Amino acid sequence: MQYEKTNGCNNARKKVSVNDIISMKQRKEKVSVLTAYDYSTASICDKANVDILLVGDSAGMVMLGYTNTISVSMEEMLLFCKAVSRGTKRAMIIADMPFGSYQPNIDSAIKNAIQFVKVGCDAVKLEGGVEVVHTIRAIVNAGIPVMGHIGLKPQTCTLWEGYKLQGKTKYSALKLIADAKALEQAGVFSIVLEMAASEVAEVISKDATVPIIGIGSGRYCDGQVLVIHDMLGIYEDIKPKFVKRYAELSKLILEAILQYTNDVKTSKFPEEQNTFHMNPNELKDLDKALKEKIDFKNGYKKEKN
Ligand code: KIV
Repeated sequence: MQYEKTNGCNNARKKVSVNDIISMKQRKEKVSVLTAYDYSTASICDKANVDILLVGDSAGMVMLGYTNTISVSMEEMLLFCKAVSRGTKRAMIIADMPFGSYQPNIDSAIKNAIQFVKVGCDAVKLEGGVEVVHTIRAIVNAGIPVMGHIGLKPQTCTLWEGYKLQGKTKYSALKLIADAKALEQAGVFSIVLEMAASEVAEVISKDATVPIIGIGSGRYCDGQVLVIHDMLGIYEDIKPKFVKRYAELSKLILEAILQYTNDVKTSKFPEEQNTFHMNPNELKDLDKALKEKIDFKNGYKKEKN
């Protein structure tokens, strides 16, 4: 396993920029993206040279236990973004704008995007195709890089057709192609394409000048993103077919916690190596004092019985 490999930009510890991400597509180097929501996980991902850390609103499900991403608030997302920003030196950090933070009007979308940049994010992501191009253009004009998100749109799919494969028919494939074009023209620097048929993902990736980051959209995309809790086997509520499990951490965590509980109950923990001791001379004095029954509170020697 190589940690210090140079990918994304020439200096392994230099912050990954928008230009680096776009030039990766030109060099045909795939972009690696993972979600992160906290300091410790972000530090590990950064050490492993993940190019982009997406503070996804999937945090609502995997971190906060909501049943979908609709309930996630700006305040919650900002907290996750601050933590990830503290743990990241190299990766680009993208904040997912939560449902309701960019739909009401363009001014509030810009204000909310600015809040993410102020807490250390490098870009924002928002869901939607042609219907959000005005908002995207306005955020980009305010100086903030934007990542688009088309195909399956988790923020609204539960209100409509549910979690379904996109681009299965000619009509829906053409709609996806038009959405990708519209986003590119609006100024996005990359696009997440979620759960689209691999054939249409290939067409979009070949046609686009910005990297297409697939999730459940096959191998022809310019990069891949997964929810870290899915690929590490921590989140058990939903197991999408497109996820590859690189570890089964929930099993490991459960075993470790069972072992700990058992050790506490049977006094196997803490061991000598987990224990602090008094200075031996101080201990001797303490023993003596206890034997002499000194009343420490009132500062006099109690009568011996
Ligand atoms: O919220 C999220 O994690 C996402 C990814 C699934 C792309 O949007």
